[in-house]
Amino acid sequence: MFPIHRPRRLRRTESIRRMVRETILTPDDFIYPLFVVAGSGIKKPISSMPGCFQESVDEVVKTAKEIHSLGIPAVILFGIPEHKDELGSEAYDPNGVVQTAIKALKDSMPDLVVITDVCMCEYTTHGHCGVVKDGEVLNDPTLELLQKEALSHARAGADMVAPSDMMDGRVAAIRGILDSEGFSHIPIMSYAAKYASAFYGPFREAAESAPQFGDRRSYQMDPPNRREALKEVALDIEEGADIVMVKPALSYLDVISDVKENFDLPVAAYNVSGEYSLVKAAAQLGWIDHDRVMLEILTSIKRAGADMILTYFAPEAARLLS
Ligand code: PBG
Repeated sequence: MFPIHRPRRLRRTESIRRMVRETILTPDDFIYPLFVVAGSGIKKPISSMPGCFQESVDEVVKTAKEIHSLGIPAVILFGIPEHKDELGSEAYDPNGVVQTAIKALKDSMPDLVVITDVCMCEYTTHGHCGVVKDGEVLNDPTLELLQKEALSHARAGADMVAPSDMMDGRVAAIRGILDSEGFSHIPIMSYAAKYASAFYGPFREAAESAPQFGDRRSYQMDPPNRREALKEVALDIEEGADIVMVKPALSYLDVISDVKENFDLPVAAYNVSGEYSLVKAAAQLGWIDHDRVMLEILTSIKRAGADMILTYFAPEAARLLS
């Protein structure tokens, strides 16, 4: 009690603050998302995500080299196919953009961890994350496509697969096919608690994956729900997930914290496109201090319990931290 206890004593100098600091960000915490398109020499800016690009494989390799040299251990790949169709067949084409990028990245940087997003929405004409029939996204028929997609990524050399579709049973389905095809060593990072969020807006421009009708609320989680996230995570763990993700991050810090408290698997959090764009826009207007806000956001996500953070800020943050 005051005047005996004076918490300010431990805040008096930066050196003392460093000694008692509870959360330290490092480049090891980050996973950097990359958007891959067909062709070569292409590096097309994504207008709503300043600093992010759609890149052809040759450019993706250059960017990944820089990411790697900053000490960031991993990238996650999203593909924008040349042609979309009803069943998203380029998602599991052995010569698709993502498969080609995996090979190129692993050839030039064997120890860079290459994770792939496993989902149908970038590859389908309707922009939904699964098979559509009569305006409904069908669960079980989608599992087969996700299995094919995950397997094709593993065959191309991916180090880890990350299903983001939110179909029920996809982790078990993917674990099963990977195991039976000789990939029992490949971990699954599941987007376990993924909410139907307006914060994905800019990403849908980046990945050209906006649903052409309706929305994703029949498969992604309802934002007001907290306990349901624990159910989703528990199911994915039972099905064999190795890492569980909460997405988005910033409006769901309570969920990250719950997942961390209740389970002993590594927890990932996705600091999504809208969270990035808000900071960029406010900084462009001169309304906030970009670097401080960025580091405060990333620190808060780690403090809440994330062991790793998927973030478009990865290179900028890593530069400031090194
Ligand atoms: C694909 C997918 C999405 C994101 C990652 N994987 C979009 C969506 O579900 O609509 C969002 C990432 C971001 O906003 O940064 N299903």
